[in-house]
Amino acid sequence: SSSNWQDALARPLRDLRISVTDRCNFRCGYCMPKEVFDKSHRFLPHAELLSFEEITRLARVFVAHGGVRKLRITGGEPLLRKNIEELIAMLARLRTPDGEPLDLTLTTNGSLLARKAEALKAAGLQRITVSLDALDDAVFQRMNDVQYPVAEVLAGIEAARRAGLNPIKINMVVQRGVNDQDIVPMARHFLGSGAVLRFIEFMDVGSSNGWRMDQVLPSDEVLQRLQAHFTLTPLPPSAEGETAQRWRYADGEGELGLISSVTHAFCGDCNRARLSTEGVLYTCLFANRGHDLRALLRDPKGYSDAQIAAALAALWARRADRYSELRGTAEAQRDGSQRIEMHYIGG
Ligand code: GTP
Ligand code: 5AD
Ligand code: SF4
Ligand code: SF4
Repeated sequence: SSSNWQDALARPLRDLRISVTDRCNFRCGYCMPKEVFDKSHRFLPHAELLSFEEITRLARVFVAHGGVRKLRITGGEPLLRKNIEELIAMLARLRTPDGEPLDLTLTTNGSLLARKAEALKAAGLQRITVSLDALDDAVFQRMNDVQYPVAEVLAGIEAARRAGLNPIKINMVVQRGVNDQDIVPMARHFLGSGAVLRFIEFMDVGSSNGWRMDQVLPSDEVLQRLQAHFTLTPLPPSAEGETAQRWRYADGEGELGLISSVTHAFCGDCNRARLSTEGVLYTCLFANRGHDLRALLRDPKGYSDAQIAAALAALWARRADRYSELRGTAEAQRDGSQRIEMHYIGG
């Protein structure tokens, strides 16, 4: 079996993002707006979720046969999944064909981090990414829409630093007119902290966040606003297929990132696949449909790892997704209303 699957556009697979729950305790308007995700919303029942054994088996196949080198745990809010440390411990034991450990990380809203950072580190999590959209408490509470105080997320970030989950990355989704006034305060706050702040263009993921282009603040404009306060120099990419353009503070320690999927699409070397909570594989964040891997895992015939690997290689070989490059074209508009939701597939 080749350890380097190629898709139809000659892109390898390196990054598997695993969603472990479709639930979240926040209701960010751009992801799980309250009007849509209210009491009547049906979340997945437990029997539908992949078990930790099933997740680990798939991850092992992806690593051994497919060339995956990075695992990112996402949600919903992954720290809401019961006993998540046990899954981390199972994934931390996986090795590449060369015997190397994987890049094992997790994206969280930070609300449970103060409580869980130590246990996550002990289980073998290497680093962590925290979503944080504002420093101003009123703005932050309005954005998470459950009145969650920013101080608790900051305490979670501090706990992660102390536990050694470094480098910590901070993801800020920028929406013009909502939190753009916090761009410079966020940069100032995290400057010299060791955490890497990334500014993310608001994207048209899913079909319930009411996305409008006029709410996107292009990264070029974010950069201009930052350059009015800081001297920044560009850094080269640190990994193939990286999402962020990196910049270094010339007169202080540290770096920041700009993730510009709307204005500078990065599909050209996209090496990411996403596994949903119930085991559906999506080869693009904007896919209309995925591939049911749970059906393979639970098939009464009992597929072997090699058979599952062959099926995965074949579906990766057919992959031609490049939604962000096609955004706005007729091709991208087709079936736009049926796209998967972010809370269901992670970032
Ligand atoms: P590291 O830099 O290795 O930590 O990983 P990453 O950049 O993949 O990290 P992360 O998961 O934090 O991604 C940050 C944000 O970039 C996500 O929340 C999305 O908004 C966006 N993003 C990540 N991957 C993709 C992708 O494949 N396509 C698009 N369009 N956006 C993406
Ligand atoms: N546009 C850009 N990023 C988004 N995220 C969620 N929804 C969007 C969107 N519409 C990001 C969050 C978090 C990760 C889970 O995905 O900020 O970092
Ligand atoms: Fe929850 Fe993250 Fe979505 Fe906000 S962006 S609702 S924290 S999953
Ligand atoms: Fe990859 Fe799809 Fe994002 Fe392009 S839009 S970078 S193909 S996930």
